[in-house]
Amino acid sequence: MKRDGLLLVVLAVVVLLVVVAGVIGWGAGHYTNRTKTVGSATATATVSVDPAVAAGAHDFVQFACAQCHGQDGRGGISPDVPSLSSAGKTLTVAQLTDIIDHGLGESANPTKPYMPVWGAVISRRQVSELVAYIRAGLPTVADATPVAVPQGQGDAVAGASLYVRYGCINCHGPNGLGGVPNPLSPDKTIPPLSGADFRHEFNTDEKITAVIRSGSVIGRAPIVSMPHWGGILSDAQLRALVAYLETLK
Ligand code: HEC
Ligand code: HEC
Repeated sequence: MKRDGLLLVVLAVVVLLVVVAGVIGWGAGHYTNRTKTVGSATATATVSVDPAVAAGAHDFVQFACAQCHGQDGRGGISPDVPSLSSAGKTLTVAQLTDIIDHGLGESANPTKPYMPVWGAVISRRQVSELVAYIRAGLPTVADATPVAVPQGQGDAVAGASLYVRYGCINCHGPNGLGGVPNPLSPDKTIPPLSGADFRHEFNTDEKITAVIRSGSVIGRAPIVSMPHWGGILSDAQLRALVAYLETLK
């Protein structure tokens, strides 16, 4: 009887020890597992994205490809602009390079967006980065996100961000100062959106809005023309852009 009681106590202690050891072991395993996950995720992000592909993702945002073709080229912005998700498989490097340099689609129809001509605006290196990014399937790349548009601070403030977000700045320069070469166009440069000549020709909000919405085709590639933003930019965004342009010199 006495021996049985002792055995019971010993057994209870052993069971308790096993449970305690189990809890500690689980906790340790759980903790190491979590640290391991974080470690390997960071390692994958830095190892698996090729630098040219990452640069292409940033170019895609900088040149506002994402504003027409959607975040990561997944479409959904306008029925007239295709998703690029399968373009990397169906189109060769040469075809993609040619489309980016020379544009695509019906540029003469002012009611529909077309693929702009970029050859004179985007560097050879950036074009090859964009092609690498599209061919890699347009993966999500850290920090390749368009500039945010401040809300509730008035049209001119929103417009200043839209000017960057929609890539107007790449063609018309910072502060609309112009100077971007367009060698085969009559003026040899893309026009400024500031200064006396601009104000004289575009002397009403309606005229400025009309040219942003419907674009202006000065010639075929390699001449760069003004893209059509109708169906891409909302009326409120157009109003904000016009308000911003009116703050310029
Ligand atoms: C103003 C809107 C707009 C912008 C900005 C724009 N695109 Fe496009 N893109 C289009 C439209 C519209 C088409 C379809 C043209 C057609 O087939 O008629 C197109 C077609 C393409 C195609 C061919 C897709 C296919 O499957 O045939 C590629 C590739 C492409 N764009 C890449 C780009 C890249 C890269 C950028 C940025 C440098 C860019 N686009 C910026 C409107 C835009
Ligand atoms: C791919 C280069 C490109 C981009 C991007 C671009 N533009 Fe233009 N834009 C032009 C060219 C080229 C002209 C000149 C067209 C002409 O002379 O008929 C022009 C003309 C204009 C004009 C009329 C000025 C003039 O003297 O003819 C306005 C206003 C304008 N753009 C605003 C914008 C805004 C706002 C954006 C951004 C939403 C933008 N542009 C994006 C190339 C571009």
